[in-house]
Amino acid sequence: MCSGPVEEFLDLGLQPISQQYREPDDTSDEFRFRLAVGQCGTCTLVQQLDEVPPELMFRADYPFLSSSSSRMSRHFLGVAENLLRTALAGPDPFLVEIGSNDGIILRAAQRAGVRHLGFEPSGEVADIAAAQGVRVRKEFFGEDSAREVADVDGKADVIFAANTVSHIPDLGEVFRGVHALLAPDGVFVFEDPYAGDVVEKTAFDQIYDEHFYLFSARSVREAARRFGFELVDVRRVPVHGGEVRYTLARSGRRQPSPAVGSLLADEEARKLTAPATLAGFAERASGVRERLGAELSALRRSGARVVGYGATAKSATLLNYCGIGPELLPFICDSTAGKQGLVTPGTHIPVRPPEEFARPYPDYALLLAWNHAEEIVAKEPGFRESGGRWLVHVPEVRLL
Ligand code: SAH
Ligand code: TMP
Repeated sequence: MCSGPVEEFLDLGLQPISQQYREPDDTSDEFRFRLAVGQCGTCTLVQQLDEVPPELMFRADYPFLSSSSSRMSRHFLGVAENLLRTALAGPDPFLVEIGSNDGIILRAAQRAGVRHLGFEPSGEVADIAAAQGVRVRKEFFGEDSAREVADVDGKADVIFAANTVSHIPDLGEVFRGVHALLAPDGVFVFEDPYAGDVVEKTAFDQIYDEHFYLFSARSVREAARRFGFELVDVRRVPVHGGEVRYTLARSGRRQPSPAVGSLLADEEARKLTAPATLAGFAERASGVRERLGAELSALRRSGARVVGYGATAKSATLLNYCGIGPELLPFICDSTAGKQGLVTPGTHIPVRPPEEFARPYPDYALLLAWNHAEEIVAKEPGFRESGGRWLVHVPEVRLL
């Protein structure tokens, strides 16, 4: 982002495209890249060293659906209602979303009669939104497309993105697009996994092809400044294992809230960006790999049945880094129809519908979707009643 030197601190090995599920009988070569992570010595931005071309990840059949979690649906409804009450409360407001997926946020704007537009390159998820009356452009957000929209629809009061800005290696393109499309007093609001939470919880599986950046308040402030924006508010958000919602405005347009200073001070106090902190994180990740591998091997030797729950993008990193395949985890249950019947990228573990979880219940279930633990554990009461135990690896390998 700033052309400073990037120092590698973690190597998660050769990894496939995290959401590239494949047919069980497909024996063709899989795309692989080295998932290594470093930090910029100048602006502190944490980023991958190798870049996976976006069109390999965000394809017509990209399977992730925002609405697959009811907790996330409630969360996004709250975000939309909040924006409608505040930054979109003026006359004839216009909301633009980058990475609008199945339209979970924009549906709320559409219901409220608010002008809106989503940028969503993954064709099938974009179609789900469009079928529900959401306005969506099936393309990557960028400077040219942002300009086109500004010419036709006018400037946006809010440009919002969830779990998407961290996916875009070319932050310059994002900021130039925002510059072209945002109203003078508009806000650019985005939420992404927070480096503070990832490091504290040793949630190294938050790092996968799509998550090119791991943001902190410090690095987002530096990025914003570089492109003529100011970080004016931050809020920690307890979803996906810990995120931060960043609010940016054009430089000099808004007074930063006290929350910005306090999160920056907190990062400083805990030495979040210190090389020793990141080296410690990498060491703990390697410890989790050893303990999880040992635990699953011991369970297999004892004759216990173990299955996985939640074929997340995160689990591609975990399973490939730890070398966990079908011999340790014979299948993974997942509610996403587009993943069922296929096998996981790299590790080739079959994905099956959640109904198969109870036929019969296994002895242990590795909760790969640990970020949805509350929702999933509540959804599967029969598993514990049958004597089953949930196994998690974040923040450490343990039974729930
Ligand atoms: N906002 C949703 C979806 C996050 S997944 C949520 O938080 O649940 C990331 C989404 O961003 C995918 O649907 C992907 O297709 C889309 N995306 C990736 N790069 C993009 C870009 N450059 N412009 C717009 N959308 C993008
Ligand atoms: P995510 O961690 O990227 O949000 O992905 C969550 C995955 O877990 C997604 O494939 C859907 C799946 N899932 C279930 O199978 N059951 C559930 O109850 C929830 C919340 C998610």
